[in-house]
Amino acid sequence: MPNKLVASVLNADLARLGEVCSTLEGAGLDAIQWDVMDGHFVPNLTVGAGVIGACRPATSLPFEAHLMIDAPERYLSEYVEAGCATIIVHAEACTHLHRTLEGIHDLGAKAGLALNPSTPLDACVHVIDLLDLLLVMTVNPGFGGQSYIGAMDSKIAAARDLIRGSGHDVSLEVDGGISPATIAQPAAAGADRFVVGSALYKQGNPAQVVDELSLSLDSS
Ligand code: DX5
Repeated sequence: MPNKLVASVLNADLARLGEVCSTLEGAGLDAIQWDVMDGHFVPNLTVGAGVIGACRPATSLPFEAHLMIDAPERYLSEYVEAGCATIIVHAEACTHLHRTLEGIHDLGAKAGLALNPSTPLDACVHVIDLLDLLLVMTVNPGFGGQSYIGAMDSKIAAARDLIRGSGHDVSLEVDGGISPATIAQPAAAGADRFVVGSALYKQGNPAQVVDELSLSLDSS
């Protein structure tokens, strides 16, 4: 699959989220990821479906909801109604993962599965046929601005082999510590979708960072 750059808005200017969404579209991002945290599954509390829905008219970029919440099956329809084309749940938060992934499809959305750094790939083996996206976390979820965990490179490569062997069309996404300096590592390991957060906003010029990320990808 062609490489895709996805913007996380967790570390964006939260007072101007609508404008940020349209700026990210103009800067050449391919999608926007909303980091939904409940202060329980992860030690942070962020936005819900209300804020996401309010920003929907600001851009035509596809939205993905990264649900870092306990029992996400309770809230799936709210995020689809808020305009999210892809719903990503964590394997560690789903008691009935197969049913939850089917539920996402029944709502007409794409289904994604996220794995914390310590969670083995085995967690997705029996549901790979239900996945549109597999997300290998490259930081422990909960905060932006953390460092990329290099030990995830071998897990990303194993995930690429698993997807290739399954014959299913599954995007392989990474999230956490992605910047022009680190993106070549997961790309070389087999990722095709890259969530970028704080690196996008550091210089106040996301378009320039997108150029730098693309250059790093081209050289990987
Ligand atoms: C962390 C989130 C990430 C985070 C990425 O739990 O899932 O999306 O916002 O931010 P950076 O790129 O700064 O690590």
